[in-house]
Amino acid sequence: MSNKAARNLFVLGSLFFFAIFLGMTYDTMGKLDKSAPEITEQVNAGKMVWHKYDCIGCHTILGNGSYFAPDLTKTTVNKPKGYLKQFLMDPKSANPHASMPKLGIRSQEADDLIAFLDWTSKVDTNGWPPKPILAVAGGVAGKELSEGQRLYQSLGCSACHAINGIGGTTGPDLTKVGSKRDRHWLMEHFEHPQKLVPNSAMPAVDAPDADIEKLTDYMLTLK
Ligand code: HEC
Ligand code: HEC
Repeated sequence: MSNKAARNLFVLGSLFFFAIFLGMTYDTMGKLDKSAPEITEQVNAGKMVWHKYDCIGCHTILGNGSYFAPDLTKTTVNKPKGYLKQFLMDPKSANPHASMPKLGIRSQEADDLIAFLDWTSKVDTNGWPPKPILAVAGGVAGKELSEGQRLYQSLGCSACHAINGIGGTTGPDLTKVGSKRDRHWLMEHFEHPQKLVPNSAMPAVDAPDADIEKLTDYMLTLK
C-alpha cells in the first residue's frame, strides 16, 4: 500500500468511526431526556424540604442514603397522596404502627415533598429498587408460585405489606392473615376496602373477579 493510500485509510477510517460515535451520543442524549420528567418549581421546593429534615438520614432514594427506613424512590406508585400527606405530617395518625417520628412538617412542605417524591417515582430507574422476592417471603423458594402469589407480586401488594418479614409497613403484616380474616371479608375488602375499614389507605384491587378469588385463596393459606 502506498503512503497516500495508508493516509486516506487513516483519515477516512477516523472520520467514519467519529461519525458513529456522534450518532450514538445523540441517540443516548435523546433517551436520557425521556427518562426523567420535567423538574418544576414545586419539585425543587420539595427537594429543599427533603434536605431540611434530613430524610436521607433514615431513607434511601435513587440509590443514596441510609438503610434504617424503606427506600422512597417509588413512593407515589400505588400509594394515595392523601394518605402520604397525613403520614408525613403525623405518621401515627395515618398508621398506628409507624415508628417514623413526627418531624413537624407543615402542610405546604408536605405538598412539596409529595411533588418531589412523585418526580422520583416517574424517573425511569431501570427497575430499581427491585421488588421484594416473594418466593423467599412466602417460604416457597425453589417451588412453583401459585397464581395467587404471582398476583400478589404483580399487583405490587408488597409495597405496603410484609409476609415473613419481607415487604412494606404501610399496611398490616399479612404473615397470619388467613387465621384472622375469612373468605367473605377478604373478597369484600379487596373490592371496597373503605366500606369495611373506614379511612383505609388501601386502594381497591383493580382486577377481574377470578383474580380476586385467587388472591383470596392465597391469603387463606397464610396461617
Ligand atoms: C428517624 C428516621 C426517619 C426520618 C428522619 C424520616 N423517616 Fe420516613 N420513615 C421512617 C420509618 C422507620 C418508616 C417506615 C414506616 C414506619 O415504621 O413508620 C418511614 C416511612 C416513610 C414513608 C412511607 C410511609 C408508608 O406507609 O408507606 C414515607 C413516604 C416517608 N417515610 C417519608 C419521609 C420523608 C419525606 C422524610 C423527611 C421529611 C422522612 N421520611 C424522614 C423513618 C424516618
Ligand atoms: C397503598 C398501600 C397498600 C397496597 C398497595 C395494598 N394494601 Fe392491603 N392494606 C393497606 C392498609 C393501610 C391496610 C389496613 C387498613 C385496611 O384494613 O383496609 C390494608 C389491609 C389489608 C388486608 C387486611 C389485613 C388485616 O389484618 O386486616 C389485607 C388482607 C390486604 N390489605 C391485602 C392486600 C393485597 C393482597 C394487596 C395487593 C393486591 C394489597 N393489600 C395492597 C395498604 C395497602
